[in-house]
Amino acid sequence: MAKEFKRYLVTSALPYANGPVHIGHLAGVYIPSDIYTRYLRLRGRDVISVCGSDEHGVPITIKARKEGVTPQQIVDRYHALIKKSFEGLGMSFDIYSRTSSKTHAETASAFFRKLYDEGKFIEKTSMQYYDEEAQTFLADRYIVGTCPKCGNDRAYGDQCEKCGSTLSPDELIDPHSAVSGSVPVKRETKHWYLPLDRYEEFLREWILDGHKEWKTNVYGQCKSWLDGGLQPRAVSRDLDWGIPVPVEGAEGKVLYVWFDAPIGYISATKDLTPDWERYWKSEDTKMVHFIGKDNIVFHCIVFPSMLKAHGDYILPENVPANEFLNLEGDKISTSRNWAVWLHEYLEEFPGKEDVLRYVLCANAPETKDNDFTWKDFQARNNNELVAVLGNFVNRALVLTQKYYGGKVPACGELTDYDRQSIAEVAAVKASLEGNIENYRFREALKDAMNIARIGNKYLADTEPWKVVKTDPARVETILNIALQITANLAIALRNMGFRVGVLDADIYGP
Ligand code: 2FM
Ligand code: ZN
Repeated sequence: MAKEFKRYLVTSALPYANGPVHIGHLAGVYIPSDIYTRYLRLRGRDVISVCGSDEHGVPITIKARKEGVTPQQIVDRYHALIKKSFEGLGMSFDIYSRTSSKTHAETASAFFRKLYDEGKFIEKTSMQYYDEEAQTFLADRYIVGTCPKCGNDRAYGDQCEKCGSTLSPDELIDPHSAVSGSVPVKRETKHWYLPLDRYEEFLREWILDGHKEWKTNVYGQCKSWLDGGLQPRAVSRDLDWGIPVPVEGAEGKVLYVWFDAPIGYISATKDLTPDWERYWKSEDTKMVHFIGKDNIVFHCIVFPSMLKAHGDYILPENVPANEFLNLEGDKISTSRNWAVWLHEYLEEFPGKEDVLRYVLCANAPETKDNDFTWKDFQARNNNELVAVLGNFVNRALVLTQKYYGGKVPACGELTDYDRQSIAEVAAVKASLEGNIENYRFREALKDAMNIARIGNKYLADTEPWKVVKTDPARVETILNIALQITANLAIALRNMGFRVGVLDADIYGP
């Protein structure tokens, strides 16, 4: 028997405040999480949805250096832009917070301090790359070189974006500094490590035995990480941007961004409600992390190990990570400016927020990478939203207006066909609910559209415009049922996070 939960805590990956949000983020993370949350709210469940900007980490300081401004100026700019564009799309987070907040610094420091005091970290001194020209250690993206796995000569010290491999600076071939371009030397430095190997057994049991229901892509990635054997991971960095490591002798060191960022979910909940512990400390809460596939290891392996080490908090019940969305056959890339940016879409297509939601959900990369094309956007708008949904609602409402002055006519005696159509709608509604509860949002959207298809077929088969001449009483029942189907459709679309009424019948030309 599936466990019954009393409340839900929905988290959406905190976007880095070093650039705007694009359609890849929306299709992969934010539209699914918004649909899930709105659905639960409409069903009257106790649910909160938290998100916020991820404002630490090297990409932000690199951008600041390039522009000759401070990291704070960068995060202030993009936090405001991201927040505004999420609002413009109609995202319904209960809070959109930020990791430069005071609450977050306190929460992340206290988290680190508890683990430190309880001896949960390993302290290790090692030789790391240092840029003598810029006088800085070269963590993560501060160091670039050739990927040992695929030969990409622009791989970073933490990851190769071409082949997706996770890397460490030592693995790079011909490493050089992203700050000054110089060849780095090695220097001794001390850091704190979370010994993930100590959590391997717990993770195996919790994920591999206990969460076989997780999506195949998520479960598979976890299994391969676990089968490969886990290593201690550094949770601090030599940087001047981040949350200072809260222990003696750690001057110039900050928490690694992937240590503090997921704790941002806790701080955001604290900022939202004084009742935050009810969500984070009760086994009756179902916590669900919405993320993209590049975040799986952090949300399924690293953060759960941190939560386990801490001991006071619950673990996620599911992590429905999506794959990636490409744009016109090419990988979306912030640095190459190859993306459809949300804030630009909102400016160029005012009032068409739901069209974007629709297309991105219909084409969401749930099980494999997918492609967004403007041709498909146009086709889905014209052939699905206009020809199926708009057509049905328009006919039902126009006929009601014409025959009954816009008032819902009474329902008379039902025919077998009427009953059958009503039963079909009920079955589709049940399927839609099951699909949303199981993170199959594309299928759920198909269900919602199937209600419109049932409606179109019902009108085509019953032909009220003809019957009105011979049996006007029957037409009252036909339109009553057509309007009931419309109402069900409106609720289904609301369930899916659409603001019914915004979807309209404009046709985009070639
Ligand atoms: O990949 C990213 O965009 C990260 N900023 C996601 C962080 S999710 C969470 F841990 F905060
Ligand atoms: Zn590579």
